[in-house]
Amino acid sequence: MIPTFVFGWPTGKESGDFLALDLGGTNLRVCLVTLQGEGKFEMTQTKYRLTEEQKHDEGQKLFDFCAECLKTFIDTNYTDGEGKSTLKPGETLPLGFTFSYPCVQERIDHGELIRWTKGFGALNTEGRDVAEMFRNSIAKYEIPVTMTAIINDTTGTLIASSYVNPKTKIAVIFGTGCNAAYMENVKDIEKIKSLGIDDKAQMAINCEWGAFDSFEHEHLPRTKYDVTVDETSNKPGEQAFEKLISGRYLGEILRLVICELIDEGVLFLGQDTYKLETPYVFETAFLSLMESDPTDELLMIIGIFTHFFAVETTLAERQFFRALAMLIGRRAARLSACGIAAIVSKMGYLDEGCLVGADGSLYNKYPGFAERVHEGLIDIFGDKGRNIVTHHAEDGSGVGSAIIAAMTKVRRDAGL
Ligand code: BG6
Ligand code: GLC
Repeated sequence: MIPTFVFGWPTGKESGDFLALDLGGTNLRVCLVTLQGEGKFEMTQTKYRLTEEQKHDEGQKLFDFCAECLKTFIDTNYTDGEGKSTLKPGETLPLGFTFSYPCVQERIDHGELIRWTKGFGALNTEGRDVAEMFRNSIAKYEIPVTMTAIINDTTGTLIASSYVNPKTKIAVIFGTGCNAAYMENVKDIEKIKSLGIDDKAQMAINCEWGAFDSFEHEHLPRTKYDVTVDETSNKPGEQAFEKLISGRYLGEILRLVICELIDEGVLFLGQDTYKLETPYVFETAFLSLMESDPTDELLMIIGIFTHFFAVETTLAERQFFRALAMLIGRRAARLSACGIAAIVSKMGYLDEGCLVGADGSLYNKYPGFAERVHEGLIDIFGDKGRNIVTHHAEDGSGVGSAIIAAMTKVRRDAGL
């Protein structure tokens, strides 16, 4: 439960041009966001793919790469027809840095990485202020920006969703990782009691709920496949809740079940199954496809197994794989409903109801995921569970980051 130093909700009137750099799970993105007030905005963005090597190399090199991408983006977007910069001499652009990993924050522009999650492992970064590391890279490449805020994708999503729809009180990311944020009363945040912040203020909390039940594993029921996913990961013991829910792991859980059945001689007898033996080769996107296969013969599932793994399947096997995908996907959605329910209960949102801004490929692309979350909320709260409604959120890492940069500027200008 990390205090973010993002104070209160946006007014919807925030405006101006802001840059955002998003270092998330899959892509690195640079965005230019124009906030137009009245909950409206425009955005231009460029995506860059990170290699596995970059995720595990020296951390400073990773931030240098971020800075290079940022420089290319600015050179492209702030240059006139003759190749001259359109920025005034000495002008710097405000930049929000979306860094979607758990960081302890002492201020809005500071973030000490607790630990990498989602398979990242860049060296010499854990325990260090990543805002400062990135600032060093910005200085090295002489980029005309001022980093005003470092934010988590969930915090950005919370603020961006509230900017366009003020009924949003909670945000959840269902992507490579899974996490949530909500707005808390400062008087109830033990961790910042000593700072003397106005008791009437509110501050967004980055829950980092993916880490729930880590290390001790006292609460969440895990199958032997979950235990294997955990023990063979680059961070055993950690992110216990996330490993049951997020897109990074669901395909791997299904692959482990298949591999066990192959070893027991129940599946694919006499076929060469080596392609299924590589960890993480079975993508979560395949589970989505399997669940959405509309044909009686389950032709899409035939396609997945022949094309990617060179094995033939019977109809009964395909039906079994689909049922398995449903179990894994449904469990993920229902566990997430528990997390949402915990925040709703703590904040007393049930009677009045609220919106939950949700984003990430699992939420956006997995068939029936949202419906299953809602089903879970009704199982927990009864009919009142219908008052809690998830919706596709605005781009938190881009737009949210820009709004937070704008809110930060207003606070700074007011001397807060
Ligand atoms: C995007 C959101 O849809 O999903 C981002 O706009 C979020 O805010 C991202 O960080 C998470 O997905 P992934 O796959 O990069 O973890
Ligand atoms: C992981 C990260 C968290 C992030 C989430 C979604 O859980 O630790 O910071 O919000 O993934 O991207």
